[in-house]
Amino acid sequence: MSEFRLEELSTENLPGLVELQLRPGQERFVAPVLHSIAEAYVTPTAWPRAILEGDEVVGFVMANFDPDNELEAFRCGIWRMNVAGSAQGRGVGRFAVEEVAAEARRRGQSRMTVLWEQGEGGPEGFYLRCGFEPTGEVLFGEIVGARSTEPR
Ligand SMILES: CC(C)(COP(=O)(O)OP(=O)(O)OC[C@H]1O[C@@H](n2cnc3c(N)ncnc32)[C@H](O)[C@@H]1OP(=O)(O)O)[C@@H](O)C(=O)NCCC(=O)NCCS
Repeated sequence: MSEFRLEELSTENLPGLVELQLRPGQERFVAPVLHSIAEAYVTPTAWPRAILEGDEVVGFVMANFDPDNELEAFRCGIWRMNVAGSAQGRGVGRFAVEEVAAEARRRGQSRMTVLWEQGEGGPEGFYLRCGFEPTGEVLFGEIVGARSTEPR
């Protein structure tokens, strides 16, 4: 069993989310967690979760489940993912991808998407390892990737 778990945002895990630090140079690939939490507050279809290991916040993931969105890439997928620099490379991100896949299956979805920016130190290799494949689409300058929601 994984040592990681997801929690809904709460007064207990908010301080850890606010303090979460990426590795230097990674900030350009993802919005700050506080920005994402503000977006979640005004986006009813957002699904934000803290990633915990024991009592420690080790990451943040936000999915979006908006089956009626006019853009297929925004109907079911990962919107944001921030893993603490000190916790990277230990399976936290992969765990979060599989948890989003599980939630998507609970919602009857068989396919999920993610958008990523290409560049040195970016998340492209990570998403490819997690089974996403580029669809060939580019949205807002970012690569669109998709995979099935079946567990890997
Ligand atoms: C990208 C990110 C979410 C990955 O999280 P992580 O917890 O370090 O990833 P994991 O440990 O679960 O890695 C899973 C697999 O991907 C690989 N991987 C992770 N980051 C990688 C990268 N940048 N390039 C290539 N492969 C990578 C791992 O080696 C592992 O491979 P394996 O299948 O051989 O075990 C994390 O580095 C991060 O928060 N980056 C900064 C913010 C960001 O870019 N977010 C995404 C915005 S769309």
